[in-house]
Amino acid sequence: MKDFLININGQIHNGPEARISVFDRGFLYGDSVYESTRTFNRKPFRIHQHIDRLFLSAEKISLLPTYSKEQILSEVLKTIKASPCSDLTIRIVLTRGTNTDLGLDTDLSGDNNLIIFTKEIKPNPAWWLTDGVSMIFYQKKIEVSGSLPKTGNYQENILGNREAHQQKAYDAFMINTFGFVTEGTTSNAWIIKDGTLYTPPLSDGVLDGLTRKTLFEMAKRQKLSLPLVEKRLTPEDFKNADECFITSTTRNIVPVTKIEERNIGPGIPGRITLELLRIYLEFVN
Ligand code: PDD
Repeated sequence: MKDFLININGQIHNGPEARISVFDRGFLYGDSVYESTRTFNRKPFRIHQHIDRLFLSAEKISLLPTYSKEQILSEVLKTIKASPCSDLTIRIVLTRGTNTDLGLDTDLSGDNNLIIFTKEIKPNPAWWLTDGVSMIFYQKKIEVSGSLPKTGNYQENILGNREAHQQKAYDAFMINTFGFVTEGTTSNAWIIKDGTLYTPPLSDGVLDGLTRKTLFEMAKRQKLSLPLVEKRLTPEDFKNADECFITSTTRNIVPVTKIEERNIGPGIPGRITLELLRIYLEFVN
């Protein structure tokens, strides 16, 4: 299965054969940080920014990296080189390490484990652009403030995504304990209303997504045809939006046409959303 290669601490394995200790703290406690990116023309997208964000997430959970940024970059490039695929998704996972015993004590772990997954990237399904995807709202139970670290603990996001699938929706927009929409379970959230593009602020408990960052960069360079504003947004704002979409590095921009069974605008992917996708792809390519 050469289209799925996994690098564990420098050793490259075929996906199904890759193994890690059951004492790894990522497995035991979700005590890890991670990043997902992709390649365009076999070049990793914004890899320095992803590795920087990996280190920021590590800092936020006091995970002391035993790998340097340069070592991680070199392992990522090595894994891409070993893959025969034309374009890949890349997941970089850094766990605190393998414990010598059960227990939370961080002194029980040795050096980090660095795991890099690479897999052939599949194009987004065509119906995402013709029909758009549907979302539900999911009320988060645990309060978080500030921009989120990207750790291996995605429990609330998993529950949100599970609830969405049970309701036959694509995914969930999460609502924080103050009642504001934050993001999708693995994506950032956006609406267009009266000719302005809005997204929730990081301080509401939002991951500082790199696709989100890229759209801000494009706005700064006047590449967008409409103003971009960070604003606290309620579920009502989303339901009454003219257009809505989600973003992530691996999926780019995905139109949302239904929320909680209600059409957004006329219930088809918005004209501005599709135009944004076109100029986004032009920009990142
Ligand atoms: N997730 N918010 C959350 C909670 C995410 O997990 C992600 C990315 C994003 C978007 O970030 P970016 O634009 O950097 O991809 C926002 C990826 C897809 C994942 O978990 O695999």
